[in-house]
Amino acid sequence: MISTTLARTNVPISAIGLGGMPLSIQGRPPDDEGRRVIHAAIDAGVTFIDTADVYCLNDGDLGHNERLIASAIRQRRDRDSIHIATKAGLRRPGGQWTRDGTPKHIREACEQSLRALGVEEIWLYQFHAPDPSVPFEESIEAFAELQRQGKVLYVGLSNVSVEQIEQASHIVDVRSVQNRLSPFFRENLDVVEECGRRQITFFAYSPVGGARLAQKIPQIPILQEIARKHHCSPHAAVLAWVRAKGNTVVPIPGATKPEHAVDSAKSISVKLSAKEIAAIDATEFART
Ligand SMILES: NC(=O)c1ccc[n+]([C@@H]2O[C@H](COP(=O)([O-])OP(=O)(O)OC[C@H]3O[C@@H](n4cnc5c(N)ncnc54)[C@H](OP(=O)(O)O)[C@@H]3O)[C@@H](O)[C@H]2O)c1
Repeated sequence: MISTTLARTNVPISAIGLGGMPLSIQGRPPDDEGRRVIHAAIDAGVTFIDTADVYCLNDGDLGHNERLIASAIRQRRDRDSIHIATKAGLRRPGGQWTRDGTPKHIREACEQSLRALGVEEIWLYQFHAPDPSVPFEESIEAFAELQRQGKVLYVGLSNVSVEQIEQASHIVDVRSVQNRLSPFFRENLDVVEECGRRQITFFAYSPVGGARLAQKIPQIPILQEIARKHHCSPHAAVLAWVRAKGNTVVPIPGATKPEHAVDSAKSISVKLSAKEIAAIDATEFART
């Protein structure tokens, strides 16, 4: 697997990560199967895994994904080379997704994530999403404080605009931004560009469009054509397009099947020509 580094560090991470969410939300596989997916991804070269406290069924199940990943990693000899990023800033009351960017919640969530991951310091702690009812700077200051206390090594953002990256950068050294990016959803290309300019790692979430749209990919003619040429899957062609969008982009595809995790990891060897990238750019990817 080709490696990159987390922004402005010399810490190597695989240029394709694994998104843990589908292993813990509704429709998740049994935990043993989830661990098989994690092992398959790591065996295929993945050394970066994204999770969140709220990747679970509801507020009675918080930390499910963090515990699952930690339990898989503990079994491995190469565990020191695996980097796990988690998040705070959301809640799951009754299974709903709600925002809570209060410093109190972020501090409490951090303690729970430290326990769930079984670590003394979170490697990369990401603010999951700005909360409109809490001043953005107050939430970011809570992350900065956790970093000063040594509970968090690096800080990242998620679901943010270019303006919010600028605001946060006055308070904390922003190492990563995690926003959505796929041929179906291109609304964050300005953020990708800004991350390249600032040397901030851009983690592309839902890079194959998310669970529903990912199933449409094999039927899209331009992807079939590119996949045939590169002897890869149409999903791998999409991941290659996502990577081509910026020099700090690291896609974090999710999977519930080991073979999908392996296929995504292998997509690292696919390099699209400028003509192929332009052809995908010019194609409308229907979301219906
Ligand atoms: N920060 C945020 O607000 C936010 C929001 C959403 C997601 N995320 C993060 O981003 C990660 C990825 O997003 P996502 O899970 O929503 O969407 P995704 O990665 O675009 O799609 C995941 C789905 O695509 C399928 N898939 C992936 N790679 C494939 C391949 N090579 N071949 C065939 N099928 C493939 C998987 O199918 P199977 O299930 O059949 O294996 C899975 O159901 C999440 O796990 C999470 O870590 C973050």
